[in-house]
Amino acid sequence: MSEPSSAGGETPPRPSRASLRTAVVWEVLQDALDRRVKATGTECLDILDTGGGTGNFAVPAARLGHRVTVVDPSPNALFALERRAAEAGVADRVRGVQGDIHGLFDVVERGGYDAVLCHGVLEYVDDPAEGVRNAVAALRPGGALSLLAAGLGGAVLARALAGHFNEARQALTDPAGRWGTGDPVPRRFTAEQLTEAVTAAGVEVGAVHGVRVFADLVPGVLVDTEPGALDALLRLEAAAAELPAFRSVATQLHVLGEKRG
Ligand SMILES: C[S@@+](CC[C@H](N)C(=O)[O-])C[C@H]1O[C@@H](n2cnc3c(N)ncnc32)[C@H](O)[C@@H]1O
Repeated sequence: MSEPSSAGGETPPRPSRASLRTAVVWEVLQDALDRRVKATGTECLDILDTGGGTGNFAVPAARLGHRVTVVDPSPNALFALERRAAEAGVADRVRGVQGDIHGLFDVVERGGYDAVLCHGVLEYVDDPAEGVRNAVAALRPGGALSLLAAGLGGAVLARALAGHFNEARQALTDPAGRWGTGDPVPRRFTAEQLTEAVTAAGVEVGAVHGVRVFADLVPGVLVDTEPGALDALLRLEAAAAELPAFRSVATQLHVLGEKRG
């Protein structure tokens, strides 16, 4: 299985623990970008990564030959992005812009992108529905939306398995899916909430995947020390990702869709 750091057709390095966070999304995203390349007949797509941070996806996408604009409010993240893009030899294809998903069109063009990524951002924004609408409005007709956000079911399961039963129940009933005041995540979503939001914004949903179904529940030491365990876990995550029963207890949910023409 490839991962973002192995983009560009080179020999893939051994998967790292970080690939547990990115592998499923990257596989799905790469396929979507390939389809868009075929549909548009251009090798170099215009990609927008809203809340792209330090470039976990932006830099690998640029290594595939695409032009990527990252909009993020954090100057520190944008600084790290610039350094990372330079180290990867793609500084000319990655542009960091300080901005916010709510004021997206103050800094980027409406309807100007073949693909828009919105990964790990909706949890933190004031108005997730508006965030989704803006992400979709940045797409050209037929463009691909890649949306990743914290899943409610995964948090409930994780709190319960850690013995925090009241917190697990609290997350289930809390409108924002939070397990208590100490919860570092401001908001979580069900697959239905995410697919409804993107559908309402004008996107045809293509696939919904669960990300990190097992990875956050297994002891880290096992994955780090047991020979072959990381590879086996990555394959298990890939196999379970699209099955609704597992998806509903994943730490994150990934929705891939296409903007209606
Ligand atoms: C969990 S990180 C995810 C980074 C990256 N998308 C990834 O998947 O690795 C969340 C990012 O969202 C950014 N962010 C927070 N609020 C935002 C907003 N209102 N609009 C756009 N980005 C925001 C943060 O600065 C941070 O870089």
